[in-house]
Amino acid sequence: MTFQLKDGRTCTIRECVEADAELVLKLFRTVAAESDNLGRLPDEIKLTIEEEREYIRARRDSPNSIMVLAEVDGRPVALAGVEGPKLKKFAHHGEVGMSVLREYWRLGIGRAILDYLEAWARQVGLRKLCLRVYDFNEPAYRLYCSAGFTEEGRLKADVLRADGTYGDTIYLAKHFV
Ligand SMILES: CC(C)(COP(=O)(O)OP(=O)(O)OC[C@H]1O[C@@H](n2cnc3c(N)ncnc32)[C@H](O)[C@@H]1OP(=O)(O)O)[C@@H](O)C(=O)NCCC(=O)NCCS
Repeated sequence: MTFQLKDGRTCTIRECVEADAELVLKLFRTVAAESDNLGRLPDEIKLTIEEEREYIRARRDSPNSIMVLAEVDGRPVALAGVEGPKLKKFAHHGEVGMSVLREYWRLGIGRAILDYLEAWARQVGLRKLCLRVYDFNEPAYRLYCSAGFTEEGRLKADVLRADGTYGDTIYLAKHFV
């Protein structure tokens, strides 16, 4: 899918393929270093390129999972996806994750990716998308709520922040049926 960013540039969202493994790892580590809003520190992203390739392959083979990249002028600038449980009792939903490079924030990429993932989820028959967001991550909380996600639960003092304080993890979901 191709669309125009708020600054006029063109952005493309596409499904990851195994050959993206190295750049996916690099992008994920960069965003983890730029932001306190992901669950992993950069040095906790330990997959090798071969393991990442296998992870992408597994996502492609899974009926309720997907991994996508957004590119601007051929440069990968965002990584996102839905991970669906393997167990049949839970296979009707999937968990959204999303990371945009800081210099590309606020250009409409996050929203476009979320729309893309929701369209995909509806097409493959998922009944809901869920995700976890930290209470100090206002940009993400606003993005998801404006897209129709609502709060379903909260884990208090769940995540250690870079400044030594603790934040809550909020569970959000959007139901389709
Ligand atoms: C959260 C994140 C994905 C948003 O991506 P983005 O491409 O900047 O989002 P968009 O430009 O599409 O913004 C969509 C909406 O989100 C909200 N939003 C985004 N950034 C915001 C900010 N800094 N302050 C307030 N609202 C914000 C707004 O409602 C915005 O709509 P608007 O621009 O029309 O007002 C991005 O900041 C990011 O990758 N952060 C680091 C990793 C992360 O937090 N991932 C999510 C973990 S749950």
